[in-house]
Amino acid sequence: MNDLEKVIDGIDLGLPAPFAEPERQYYFIKKGREYVTARSKELGRDLTCSIQTFGCQMNVRDSEKLAGILEQMGYVRTESEHADFIIYNTCTVRENANRKVYGHLGLMKHLKEKNPEMKIALCGCMMQEQHVVTTISKSYRFVDMVFGTHNVYKLAEIFVSRIESGSMVIDIWKDAKEVVEDLPAVREFPFKSGVNIMFGCNNFCTYCIVPYVRGRERSRNPEDIIAECERLADDGVVEIMLLGQNVNSYGKNLEHPITFAELLRRVCAIEKIQRVRFMTSHPKDLSDELIDVIAENQKICRHLHLPVQSGSTKILNAMNRRYTKESYLALVDRIRAKVPEISLTTDIIVGFPGETEEDFLETMDVVEKVQYDTAFTFIYSKRTGTPAAGMENGSTKEEIQDRYNRLLRRVQEISDVKTIAIKGQTQPVLVEGFDEKGDGLLTGRLSNNILVHFPGCAEMVGKILNVKLVECKGFYYMGELAE
Ligand code: 5AD
Ligand code: SF4
Repeated sequence: MNDLEKVIDGIDLGLPAPFAEPERQYYFIKKGREYVTARSKELGRDLTCSIQTFGCQMNVRDSEKLAGILEQMGYVRTESEHADFIIYNTCTVRENANRKVYGHLGLMKHLKEKNPEMKIALCGCMMQEQHVVTTISKSYRFVDMVFGTHNVYKLAEIFVSRIESGSMVIDIWKDAKEVVEDLPAVREFPFKSGVNIMFGCNNFCTYCIVPYVRGRERSRNPEDIIAECERLADDGVVEIMLLGQNVNSYGKNLEHPITFAELLRRVCAIEKIQRVRFMTSHPKDLSDELIDVIAENQKICRHLHLPVQSGSTKILNAMNRRYTKESYLALVDRIRAKVPEISLTTDIIVGFPGETEEDFLETMDVVEKVQYDTAFTFIYSKRTGTPAAGMENGSTKEEIQDRYNRLLRRVQEISDVKTIAIKGQTQPVLVEGFDEKGDGLLTGRLSNNILVHFPGCAEMVGKILNVKLVECKGFYYMGELAE
């Protein structure tokens, strides 16, 4: 039994639920566990749970927290959607993310008819939109629980409330009340973990729904972040990914302000942590201090995701990005001058309202000049409630699709050239496990995030080993152990 299990075990359910967090949640975890144990006995089998995660690394991390709570409640994890408790942790950044969730729900209705034990929960960004919750509560009555991005930590309490009330529970908060520390989490990988350093976003890019569904920017205290990283390191984690919508503005609003660069220094100082990554950087806030810290510190992975969104200063203005084409390119030059081996990746939106062929060619020009290792390309998707939703789009669907195709083609050509350029080199790889094809090969990641497959054995998983990059297969490598 670990320390947390001992605390939960010692709780007296005869007393009323405490008000303070996280103790209140420990109380409901124990209550949930009593229910799960009793139902398991009646059914003569374990109760299973499954979490389906959509969207970004923040959601992946939230799902690990949900999994930690479910595990403490006695549910057994399964990958399949045939589970006794299924959670959809949703994304709403683009319209097709929403469509996928409704698609799954259609299937769930049938599964639930076959398994009356089944509970369905919806959470995450999509649930922070009023029209979604209205649709769910009217047309998807078989859903049991609906909660948002600010109260993920309350899963056990919401679950108990569903069991006790016998009806759908909807619990959505407009904004966060507090950052609750010290709740259980189950890591997807034993040797690497995401760590939230901040929540929310204050940038209000005009196309983006994130500030409306994730609320205002809040940084965690550096002491709490370092303590979490140290705990993870003691538990075998060698790679940490620091997570925030805009990590470069970390710490500005703390009582004792600290820069993201300083936080990175402190995380790198933890001896057992061998690799540090971070996501996402907004170009307008990326400081020279940060570039220096990356250059000085080999533990920081040689990969920077620097979303440009558009190469046209006019469109960047309309997007409220607060940098210009020229200042972005100058920033890239400063980064490359100090860290020449760094891999640069980006996000690009095509078809933002008002984008002309000339604006698009500016984007192509940035792609040409920067030579990104990878670029994630998106067709603009109108999000209700954002300022851009009210802007006129002068281009036709066909024009936008044509621009998108041209961009994608060029991005892939450049990416292929960049990937093949390191052929023959020997580089450290963090071994993640056996690859999914079942051909017995291990798979791992280079510091710059490129995947490598190579022959090896199970004992190598979780270690950082030197691998020679023998054959380039497009976006990944086949390699062999160098030692
Ligand atoms: N339409 C298309 N792409 C979007 N992104 C965010 N909002 C939208 C939208 N409304 C993209 C941006 C961001 C990435 C996570 O998703 O490129 O960087
Ligand atoms: Fe959205 Fe802009 Fe915030 Fe990124 S920085 S989450 S694109 S508003």
